[in-house]
Amino acid sequence: MANKSVWSDNRFWRRSAAWVTGFASILLIWLTFDTSAQIAMGNDQDLQNKVTKRVPGPTVINYKITYEMSAKRGHEVPVIGEKEKFFGRDDYSEEEAGALLHLGKLGSQAKNCMDCHTLLGNGAYYAPDLTKAWIDPAWGPNGAMQALTGKNTKEEAMAEFLMHPDQYPTHARMMPDLGITAKEAKGLVAFLKHMSSIDTNGFPRNFGKIEGAVHGK
Ligand code: HEC
Repeated sequence: MANKSVWSDNRFWRRSAAWVTGFASILLIWLTFDTSAQIAMGNDQDLQNKVTKRVPGPTVINYKITYEMSAKRGHEVPVIGEKEKFFGRDDYSEEEAGALLHLGKLGSQAKNCMDCHTLLGNGAYYAPDLTKAWIDPAWGPNGAMQALTGKNTKEEAMAEFLMHPDQYPTHARMMPDLGITAKEAKGLVAFLKHMSSIDTNGFPRNFGKIEGAVHGK
């Protein structure tokens, strides 16, 4: 009995189980709080003070959003740049911007964009991933969509497409007309612009390869 191995001792295993469970519980609680803090939405003050938040406040729609390669993190990270007009304005208040995002979010749920698209990892892959759709250069100054829709800003081109997607087919699959109104389209575009500013740790993997979206071009 004296030289019984520790590995066959019940007390050893019981004690180990208690320690491992205790440690894992504390780790989980800590991770829960850490994650909540990481994904808490920033506010207008952060943006004015150039404080980087993983999820910027709604007034990020007043700013230009680009991506830059981060050597340290090994993928592109969002860069909130200078002020940029959004439907003619760059002075949306926190309330106004918040209301637009809210409208867009409700619209995306009501029209079920996730039935076909993916938003932040949720949804389908029938149609393009929308997580970073805002920085798709197709909507930019030299992109096809402004010419196609006859609009000369990114947001107006996108809104026009959302209202009449069947008139501007670019992919083999066509997006159906979902009866989106001008007001809803504005909210949806704000929602997409805000979503593109979220630091998603380089997800989806391929968006950084989108030429021109990076380095503010
Ligand atoms: C029934 C499927 C379906 C639904 C629902 C749908 N879409 Fe689409 N969407 C598509 C397809 C297919 C395309 C590609 C069509 C094309 O480019 O001609 C597309 C393209 C887009 C694009 C252009 C993507 C790019 O290349 O940058 C945007 C933006 C978009 N959809 C937004 C939305 C939003 C917002 C909603 C919800 C309000 C929505 N879609 C709902 C099928 C759908």
